[in-house]
Amino acid sequence: MILEVQDLSYQFPNGFRALNSVSFSVEAGELLVISGKNGSGKTVLLRCLKGLYRPRQGTISLNQESFGLVFQDAESQIVGQTVEKDIAFGLENLRLPRKEITLRVREAMKTLDLLDHAHQRPRSLSGGEKRRLTIAGVLVMNPDIIALDEPFANLDYPGVLQVLEKILLLKEQGHTILLVTHELEKVLSHADRLMLLDKGSIAALGPPEAVREQAPSCGVYIPRGMPVEEMSWLKE
Ligand SMILES: Nc1ncnc2c1ncn2[C@@H]1O[C@H](COP(=O)(O)OP(=O)(O)OP(=O)(O)O)[C@@H](O)[C@H]1O
Ligand SMILES: [Mg+2]
Repeated sequence: MILEVQDLSYQFPNGFRALNSVSFSVEAGELLVISGKNGSGKTVLLRCLKGLYRPRQGTISLNQESFGLVFQDAESQIVGQTVEKDIAFGLENLRLPRKEITLRVREAMKTLDLLDHAHQRPRSLSGGEKRRLTIAGVLVMNPDIIALDEPFANLDYPGVLQVLEKILLLKEQGHTILLVTHELEKVLSHADRLMLLDKGSIAALGPPEAVREQAPSCGVYIPRGMPVEEMSWLKE
């Protein structure tokens, strides 16, 4: 297991319990889709895994250094003065040789189609471009586990395809993917398992075909009658 969570609960200072005794594990190389309605605890869960929130109850076993999180709110993840510098930021903190940094940043920009924006100020990027920038910034660190919080938000059709292709490539390369989304019809056919969160608890977790029935009662739309294998925006 690359990730194991046991009996994890998280309570905010105001007393609100956002996660309620959550237990699950993830195998290396798995693509786990996590869904649930607004406020069900998806982002809080990812933030606990990343170590941004410190839960008082439960255990999380994973290598946090090798856990990359692409934030739901792209703005809050952008730190650099230019696209290129922003992507380089994490690598610079590792004090890698300049040459290697340049190479890896170029590669990440190429993958996320950002080369034309290399010297642009991140604040001036479009919503979709910002989203691709934050993905590039995580990708460049080459984490074993990559968690993406609503990666399709703000993206147009080609943007969704691009990001989806990239995610699947990462999986092919052996990365473990945690993908938080409401938009099951875009991606579910590629998922190994689907987790449904409801009011901070795991309402269902298993192969998509076995869990899909429970989606509506968790407030998640899933096209009725559509076979899981057709739930992808990538048509092979
Ligand atoms: N700092 C905070 N203090 C109190 N409650 C909070 C705080 N941050 C988040 N919450 C609450 O925790 C719950 C879970 O939030 P979370 O962001 O994980 O939802 P989500 O499932 O990611 O929803 P969405 O689909 O809208 O992104 C929400 O009800 C939210 O209002
Ligand atoms: Mg969220």
